[in-house]
Amino acid sequence: MDAREMKVKAAEAALQHVEDGMRLGIGTGSTAEEFVRLLAEKVAEGLKVEGVPTSERTARLCLELGVPLKSLDELPELDLTIDGADEMDAALTLIKGGGGALLREKIVAAASARMIVIADETKLVETLGRFPLPIEVNPFGLAATRIAIEKCAERLGLAGEIRLRRAGESVFTTDGGHFILDASFGRIPDAEALSTQLNSIPGVVEHGLFINLASFAIIAGPSGARTLKAN
Ligand code: 5RP
Repeated sequence: MDAREMKVKAAEAALQHVEDGMRLGIGTGSTAEEFVRLLAEKVAEGLKVEGVPTSERTARLCLELGVPLKSLDELPELDLTIDGADEMDAALTLIKGGGGALLREKIVAAASARMIVIADETKLVETLGRFPLPIEVNPFGLAATRIAIEKCAERLGLAGEIRLRRAGESVFTTDGGHFILDASFGRIPDAEALSTQLNSIPGVVEHGLFINLASFAIIAGPSGARTLKAN
């Protein structure tokens, strides 16, 4: 089974949790896109759902495939969000934001009664941090915010390159008009402590650590998909 097939397997298993009439948060990334394609087939067959997309990219795909969309202001309370992740540990703490949509993804997940994470098994790690942590920052005061992040990392015994995300020749800009700093800490033994510290920096809009948001994960490997509950 190749990587795409594993994503499809996870998306198929997640679709089993979608019921008629649900208000759905719809994630961003290649795994979430496989879910959107399968969801669109069910919608074409008559399934009634309303989706809130977590990015402009996801919104475009949903519109193209005929998945009905609402804004989060129209549907501020959601039944279920289905989204991918860049990394997850056994407690289902996630690193998200590889696709640059972490702020809307976190707002949508927090507005949902349940969040199911869909991923292939390469995303499962013992300790988070191999994947650089995306930190969404306000463009104003970028240098000061970077220094504050470095100092906060230092206090927690973390170190590593903090790189401004680029898109070709330009600086990558999120749907909300912010920049992303990708922090290569290598290991994040205490995600809660890092989250608290980052949230205390004024220039940090949000970060990609998702703590206590995932209800369970559907992990696909060569032998199929399995459900992983937080330990
Ligand atoms: C986007 C995300 C994605 O969920 C994450 O990057 C996983 O993407 P993929 O399914 O393509 O591996 O957080 O901001």
